[in-house]
Amino acid sequence: MAIRPIITAPDPRLRQVSKPVEKVDDALRTLMDDMLETMYDAPGIGLAAIQIGEPVRVIVMDLAKEDEEPQPRYFANPEILDPSEDLSVYEEGCLSVPEYYDEVERPARCRVKYLDYHGEPQILETEGLLATCIQHEMDHLEGVLFIDHLSRLKRDRVLRKLKKEQRLAAE
Ligand code: NI
Repeated sequence: MAIRPIITAPDPRLRQVSKPVEKVDDALRTLMDDMLETMYDAPGIGLAAIQIGEPVRVIVMDLAKEDEEPQPRYFANPEILDPSEDLSVYEEGCLSVPEYYDEVERPARCRVKYLDYHGEPQILETEGLLATCIQHEMDHLEGVLFIDHLSRLKRDRVLRKLKKEQRLAAE
């Protein structure tokens, strides 16, 4: 496994639409392992492949609390089914939008159809943080960031700040 650099906004690669996975093979499992290690190292609770520059429809997540055993989850070609009409609000953050958190409203529950680490088709019922997290990561596969759900004013402010920080870091 290897820790890979995480791309941060406003890098245009984050705006790509990721491509479906053809099959879950050893090469893809290596990518999933690298993503999980990168996510744990950050640390974060979810990561989409495009965040390490790989435009494929793969997500990893682990919502276990610090005192719990790790619960890694792997999703290839995930699809959201039956998003609920009722919404819930969580304060979200993103490893590609460092040090910024804000409230986003999303469907409170949904089902997710996907291929697991072994390429087996699965359907997962989600609610609460799990539902929010999977929808946040699914957005990445479409080139969407959580700040896109905020007002233009807030989004532009965050992106300006990130751009400035990157410029300073590069000097
Ligand atoms: Ni994110």
